[in-house]
Amino acid sequence: MDQKARVTFGTKLGIIAATAGSAVGLGNIWRFPSQAAQDGGAIFVFVYLACVAFFGIPIVLAEFILGRAGKANSAGTYRNLAPGKKFHYFGYFAILAAFLIMGFYMVVSGWTLEYLVLSITGELGRTQDFSALFANLRNNPTAQITWMVIFTAATAGIVAFGVKKGIELASKLMMPLLLLVMLILCARAVTLPGANEGLVYLFAPNLENASSAGMRILTDALGQSFFSLSVGMGCLMTYASYFGKDVRLVKTAGTMASLDTSVAILAGAIIFPAAFALTTDPGSMVETLKTGGPGLVFIAIPQLLQSLPAAQIWSVFFFLLLVLASLTSTISLLEVITAFVHEEVRVTLPKPIRFQKTKPENGVLHQEYRIARPFAVSVISIGIIVLGIFCSYSLGDHSALKVFGMSFFDFLDFVTAKLMMPIGGIFISLFAGWYLDKKILAAELSNEGTIPLRFFKTYSFILRFIAPLGIAVVLVVGLVG
Ligand code: PFF
Repeated sequence: MDQKARVTFGTKLGIIAATAGSAVGLGNIWRFPSQAAQDGGAIFVFVYLACVAFFGIPIVLAEFILGRAGKANSAGTYRNLAPGKKFHYFGYFAILAAFLIMGFYMVVSGWTLEYLVLSITGELGRTQDFSALFANLRNNPTAQITWMVIFTAATAGIVAFGVKKGIELASKLMMPLLLLVMLILCARAVTLPGANEGLVYLFAPNLENASSAGMRILTDALGQSFFSLSVGMGCLMTYASYFGKDVRLVKTAGTMASLDTSVAILAGAIIFPAAFALTTDPGSMVETLKTGGPGLVFIAIPQLLQSLPAAQIWSVFFFLLLVLASLTSTISLLEVITAFVHEEVRVTLPKPIRFQKTKPENGVLHQEYRIARPFAVSVISIGIIVLGIFCSYSLGDHSALKVFGMSFFDFLDFVTAKLMMPIGGIFISLFAGWYLDKKILAAELSNEGTIPLRFFKTYSFILRFIAPLGIAVVLVVGLVG
């Protein structure tokens, strides 16, 4: 592959917007608050922060190092860094994870888009029964599939424009807007009379919930931190392959992780105060918060927002926030597979003799072609839509599409966040810690010796022992316990 010609992100802001855009997503707004509600409030937040610090950030950094040094899609990066070895299977594993995540993520993203449109047209405001509205959507695969297809097409449209004019530009436009909408919503929520109770629920340790969750808190927090940081599956590795030489990897990893974590906490600081302040029945609200997931974002919150003055504006803001968060994440997921197909897959087609430069075979001439980005994006999108269709059908009340007792949708969520991403994290830390030449590790961290190299030994120790062993223990204990 022509490595010199590889495109790079144009600006530092673009890099932060793209990486943080990937990280900040439905995971922050849809999953973090309900995990915290289920797993003991502040206790979960604390364990989560520890997972981010000890496992998440070191592996984010490892993905940055590998991606920039390997300068290719996630499989190509391993091949470039370990020629002749089989490590590129780690890359295939990552690509599979990206595909499976998109299967269910696009469906939820489709819901957010539908709710944004319903908010804009005012239809959401005229709804009497929000549970029925959402149940209708879940039981109506055609509607779900339509919105999912629209969302996938929007994602594909951006990625087809390429790294600079597509991903970077879109992230630079969307991320500031997302943060602004988030701050406005947060200011509104925490100034509601009675908001304090919600904040206390989120930030005060709740021993009763925590003890019933037990060891599950650890696996939940680990899975959530990986999912939220987009780490462990080649997404950040692919983005880092577009980083220029002067990008400071440690600083970028720190900024991205801080933004992601702040947004998760801000989302909690919107949802819990709103939930407590606007309800007449805090008991059942607590139950809804714990059940989490769709119930929270698509039933409880829209219903609560209706009791505010200027309700329509608040629900437009809320769903705009979700749409923006989803879209900046789906483009990063799609790029993992697009980069792979565009760079690795070749098709051989017959070509008329007069255009052929290489030697003819039996009179038929063949030439290898790369798959153009827009074409790659279209083919992959069709695959995602097919997977999304299965997910949508699995959500209906009477659906038989179950795997191990879970809906196919929940199964994909479980397998990717709780298994594949942590396992991917183990692969990445072992490869960077044990196989990768220390000189490359040091050169990437210090930008070829132009910036000081600090804590190198500690970092190397984390990659070799702490991260892989820690993640493995949490995984095993969580699965057996
Ligand atoms: N980090 C995203 C979120 O929190 O919603 C989800 C995600 C995006 C996971 C990209 C993995 C990924 F590669």
